Amino acid sequence: MVEMMTRTRQLQRTIPKSGQPIPAIGLGSWQTFDVGRSASDRAPLAAVLKAFVGFGGAVVDSSPMYGRSEAVLGDLSSQLRLNDKLFVATKVFTSGQRRGVAQMRQSLRRLRRTRIELMQIHNLVDWRTQLATLRAWKAAGTFRYIGVTHYTSSAFDQLAGVIAAEELDFVQLPYSIIRREAERKLLPLAQKRRVAVLVNRPFEAGALFARTRGRPIPTFARPFADSWAQLSLSFILAHPAVTCVLPATSKLAHLVDNMGAGLKRLPDAAERRKVAALFSS
Ligand SMILES: NC(=O)c1ccc[n+]([C@@H]2O[C@H](COP(=O)([O-])OP(=O)(O)OC[C@H]3O[C@@H](n4cnc5c(N)ncnc54)[C@H](OP(=O)(O)O)[C@@H]3O)[C@@H](O)[C@H]2O)c1
Repeated sequence: MVEMMTRTRQLQRTIPKSGQPIPAIGLGSWQTFDVGRSASDRAPLAAVLKAFVGFGGAVVDSSPMYGRSEAVLGDLSSQLRLNDKLFVATKVFTSGQRRGVAQMRQSLRRLRRTRIELMQIHNLVDWRTQLATLRAWKAAGTFRYIGVTHYTSSAFDQLAGVIAAEELDFVQLPYSIIRREAERKLLPLAQKRRVAVLVNRPFEAGALFARTRGRPIPTFARPFADSWAQLSLSFILAHPAVTCVLPATSKLAHLVDNMGAGLKRLPDAAERRKVAALFSS
């Protein structure tokens, strides 16, 4: 199945500030890539990463907050000779200028890179201090893009204030069929400010599947989804402000399922409303 589908082109989106196209389905790494060095730990993730790139994926998201994830991504992508095919997004998650610099140097080493495509300020931690460093390193060519992230809608007002006031390339935020607060203010604001949007927690860290277990996907969704995972990803990607969604998985079968969403058409506005209605209660 992987062989058959690798010949089909993944859905692409454009980074507003540069015009660079990137594949619209990426890969998260929180928990899933935080593993040890044993072959039994790493072989399934090597298969996931290889298939991800085979399907035309490129955007991987990590953070020094995710334990060993950056190092595992760096090791596996180097062993598989895929490191230069990736669009690497990672984060700085500390206070203070010197600690931020040390942490970002560590990320470069762990990811086995001299450059990183996107450096983000994780959960806006000490963001004014870190943003000054990110700007300097972007000017020096170490980072191509810079941005900010958060994981909770209670931080959306603060995130909106930063996006409105500062010149940023990316924002990363939570958005799912179950949690749609971002539609109210943040997604329109990102569009207006020409800020690319990465979506985290698209399956609510797996909680979506507890709610849909045992229920078949509705017939109207069949043209754009074969599974609840695909239904969820295509709902998110049908929002025009979204640049890339970051599902995380440690299983090849789930990776194949998730990448399949980027090979189908997206729901139209009426279908999107019907999908939303399924989860509105
Ligand atoms: N503040 C921040 O910047 C921030 C915060 C949160 C997350 N993030 C980023 O966003 C990424 C995604 O969020 P997340 O890791 O919280 O969770 P998620 O992607 O919403 O859900 C991951 C869960 O869904 C399962 N899953 C994945 N594909 C599936 C499929 N097709 N069918 C059934 N189950 C499936 C995974 O289990 P299996 O391994 O069994 O597939 C895992 O338990 C993170 O990894 C991270 O990179 C960033």
